[in-house]
Amino acid sequence: VSGLAKLAKAAGKKYFGTATDNPELNDAPYVEKLGDLHDFNQITPGNSMKWDATEPSRGNFQFANADVIVNLARKNKQILRGHTCVWHSQLPQWVTAGNFTKSALQEIVKTHTRKVVSHFKGKIWDVVNEPFNDDGTFRESVFYTTIGPEYIAIALKAARKADPHAKLYINDYNIDGPGAKSDAMYNLVKSLKEQGVPIDGIGVQAHLIAGIVPDSFQANLERFASLGVDVALTELDIRFTLPPTPAKLEQQRRDYQNVIAACKAVKRCVGVTIWDWTDKYSWIPSVFPDQGAALPWDEGFVKKPAYDGIANGW
Ligand code: XIL
Repeated sequence: VSGLAKLAKAAGKKYFGTATDNPELNDAPYVEKLGDLHDFNQITPGNSMKWDATEPSRGNFQFANADVIVNLARKNKQILRGHTCVWHSQLPQWVTAGNFTKSALQEIVKTHTRKVVSHFKGKIWDVVNEPFNDDGTFRESVFYTTIGPEYIAIALKAARKADPHAKLYINDYNIDGPGAKSDAMYNLVKSLKEQGVPIDGIGVQAHLIAGIVPDSFQANLERFASLGVDVALTELDIRFTLPPTPAKLEQQRRDYQNVIAACKAVKRCVGVTIWDWTDKYSWIPSVFPDQGAALPWDEGFVKKPAYDGIANGW
């Protein structure tokens, strides 16, 4: 068996996949590789399902860009992860302005989640994205400050109602090892389950740094899974300070291998998504100055040592 998705399936996982984004779909060689089922049997839209894209003004739902990616996934026979219904970022001004009462914003969250999830049936969804601060307190988004932490249950219930077959996740970053933020995710999902709120999985974004991946990565996944939910690595990339050197690429290869091996070892780790597959379209350099080269293919679509790390990890 060869190919990252084929190897993931041979290891008993549902998928290995990648994020993509609409502007990249004008790059024909990129699109051809994106559709290679040996390496990718799952895709995630990097931007086009976010609130600013899907409901730019109230009640005005726009699905054209997201539909392009969903249709591409269907054509390629790839699983689709929906990303994301309720998030503090890439929110349109009409929501962030904070001009709504608690009950009005509750209705807005319900309607938005229902419309988006029911437009794309049968998907896996990051219903709520990044609800926590790094210290484990709830992030003071407009949703939290206006509604309180129950905005999370409101969104999850609306998603379940909109599509009983969808898999519903809460997704966050810096929950790769033990710590306050991982504890907060653990406690939130535990309490949601105790209350009977629908929740199927925890998404570990896994935006990692070469050389400092937590040793306890696997134990941390296992702990989440022990709650009786699936776990997935939803946005994996492993960055370092540019430029690449053989030593940095080798470190990155080892880190990819360890992270994949951790998912392999955890029964309820259902799949892994990298946050795009080529350094040409990685989000890292635009957000982390001097950092990059975080993905398994370089800017010229040539496989890096990281590719072999992933293959060996499976
Ligand atoms: C990123 C996209 O990749 C960029 O194109 C965009 O400019 C900003 O958002 N965590 C998430 C993703 O959940 O939605 C983010 O995606 C990366 C961090």
